Amino acid sequence: MTDLDLPVAWRRYAERCVLLDGFHALKHALRFGAEVPVAVTSDRAGALALADELAPDVREALEGLLTGVSREAYASVVARPHPTAVAALAVRPSREAGLEALACLPRRAPVVVLDQPRNLGNAGAVIRLAAGFGATGVVTTGTLDPWHPAVVRGGAGLHFATAVERLEVGELPPGPVFALDPEGEDIRGVRLPDDALLAFGSERGGLSRELRARADRLVALPMRPQVSSYNLATSVAMTLYHWSATGGAVRTP
Ligand SMILES: C[S@@+](CC[C@H](N)C(=O)[O-])C[C@H]1O[C@@H](n2cnc3c(N)ncnc32)[C@H](O)[C@@H]1O
Repeated sequence: MTDLDLPVAWRRYAERCVLLDGFHALKHALRFGAEVPVAVTSDRAGALALADELAPDVREALEGLLTGVSREAYASVVARPHPTAVAALAVRPSREAGLEALACLPRRAPVVVLDQPRNLGNAGAVIRLAAGFGATGVVTTGTLDPWHPAVVRGGAGLHFATAVERLEVGELPPGPVFALDPEGEDIRGVRLPDDALLAFGSERGGLSRELRARADRLVALPMRPQVSSYNLATSVAMTLYHWSATGGAVRTP
């Protein structure tokens, strides 16, 4: 592909794809089986040196995929150039496949539910956590699109390592709902089962009425008096860690 072909190729795929911004996002997406129809860099030697150092497992795939283009051509397809000068498009997995993975029983690891989250960076950080802990998936309720480009950026290409979908509370997959709330029972005395839905409220308003009505148990993270709450993504991190430390198995690929 030449610089001249790039805008046409990019436009052709952009509609059904998500942007992988930077080397690390592309590396993660490839590791977890993403289909990547186009990948460019204005520093091919630098990108392959990074692959040698950090990702020898996908070096061959990167060598075949990455097209070297000029700095101007690279900059024309991204909003803000990334320090690694790498950008790619990956095909977004079908909603059917995501819903099937979320509904599949028996479930070996929890589903994280973000109830009406507002902050795109928080949602991305949670997807990255879910991928790291081998969670079955991340479901959002409300208006935030969990495949929004800013969420994909925050997720570092790890949307491809777990199922990510938006659903109504009434459509949540089966399983006991453990809803995280400072007023709940102390999580340190609770074993979170592998088939749990771990639900977290929005940054501003906490858990919605609908989610509370669907919850089987309310559980709290330890927090000293006078502190109102933790950040959403750090709450998810502590809860997934608690699940793993009390018997939950972090899945290996
Ligand atoms: C920033 S907090 C929401 C604060 C909100 N003002 C409220 O009224 O709950 C976002 C979510 O993180 C989780 N969370 C934060 N701190 C927690 C704690 N100490 N125990 C359990 N969950 C917590 C809850 O699910 C909460 O809805």
